[in-house]
Amino acid sequence: MRTDSYVPDLLSFLDSSPTASLAVMHLASKLDQKGFQRLEEGDSWEIGANVRFYTIRSSSSIIAGITGTKACKETGCRIIGAHTDFPGFRIKPEADRKTDNINVLGVELYGSPILATWFDRDLSLAGTLAVREDDTISRKPFMIRKPIFRMASPAIHIEREINKKGFKVNPEKNTPLLFSSSGAVLEDVVSLACESADVKRDSVSGWCMEVWDPQPAALGGLEDDFIFSGRLDNLTMCHAATEALLASEGSSETRLVSLFNSEEVGSRTLNGAGSTFIDSVMERLAGGRDEYFRCLSGSIQVSADGAHAVHPNYPEKHDPGCRPVLNGGPVIKVNAAEKYTSSDVTSAYFRTCADRSGVDVQYFVSRNDMPCGSTIGPITSTRTGVRSVDVGNPMLSMHSVRETAGSKDHDAMIKVLIEHLSGSVNISG
Ligand code: CO
Repeated sequence: MRTDSYVPDLLSFLDSSPTASLAVMHLASKLDQKGFQRLEEGDSWEIGANVRFYTIRSSSSIIAGITGTKACKETGCRIIGAHTDFPGFRIKPEADRKTDNINVLGVELYGSPILATWFDRDLSLAGTLAVREDDTISRKPFMIRKPIFRMASPAIHIEREINKKGFKVNPEKNTPLLFSSSGAVLEDVVSLACESADVKRDSVSGWCMEVWDPQPAALGGLEDDFIFSGRLDNLTMCHAATEALLASEGSSETRLVSLFNSEEVGSRTLNGAGSTFIDSVMERLAGGRDEYFRCLSGSIQVSADGAHAVHPNYPEKHDPGCRPVLNGGPVIKVNAAEKYTSSDVTSAYFRTCADRSGVDVQYFVSRNDMPCGSTIGPITSTRTGVRSVDVGNPMLSMHSVRETAGSKDHDAMIKVLIEHLSGSVNISG
């Protein structure tokens, strides 16, 4: 791997971000180091030109930006959107389940994980604790790496047809986590979480505990062509967007990176892409209602999320013409039913940014006999009226506990995003 590559930093970001809140915390601390000032939504904002700022809503969504030398009502904003969350499991309240000797905890699904991939992995716990101090409650993140949980598969001898018929998982019955044979219960797990967060157990009266796979992200393949890791969808694009912002040079345009929680569960939350988060930040930057609408009208968003690469062992799953490959460059996603925002002009916009940065692009379109996924692009674009293009880097096994991406595509995407933020390419009308 070249020493000027962003990939080593991506790997350490993936390893330290088992939850959306922790991902946001790490990105915020990187922004702090680069002189960005944190603004609170509850404060009054007065932002001049060339100001580096960020704001966090509900710990797991962040919008960071650099104001341009010109007012954003004149130029619009150059926006990159992505999502901070990923599919997985959360510990249920009252999760203790009675079994034969082994203590297990019930879990709830978050989004759509490929269930079978979570079995027989060394699983651990991360999340947030609601800590009460006097009469004020605040949120404190925690993270444990020790493999305290197991979702154990049935032996082939008791499930003889498992290979022929597929590993079918009943998400309620088969997913409870094994964690003790000596009588430990949920309360012991909560106490461990408190200990790791360095807070007193009696000050914690609520929590969100997520299951994660602590196996470190790795470069793989004979010549390090691949990245193997959990949470590639969509922490890779959160990292790429933030690095592009940090690398962007002074520009007349205001540049924004908006990273939302809740995409995997539909985005309709207080800090999801369906919330007022991006609208309120842009209105405040614009300085007034009329200025805000002018700003929206001139803005361009690149919505960046994982894209499906052609799978060598499932080649028939792709359109015969559009066959994006790992390490073939960023993918522009097209869908006639507008599950993606890419249009004739916005696709051409992203392609022109890629051409200017010496990067090849690929295209994705669904087969007509297969459903198409979606992303945050259509949600924010519908809310705000900002033109948008949906793109992403090619990957395999999306929503597996351990996904696969191409190691060369990450740096390529960052180059194109830097070009986008620079404001060098425009769309007229
Ligand atoms: Co995604």
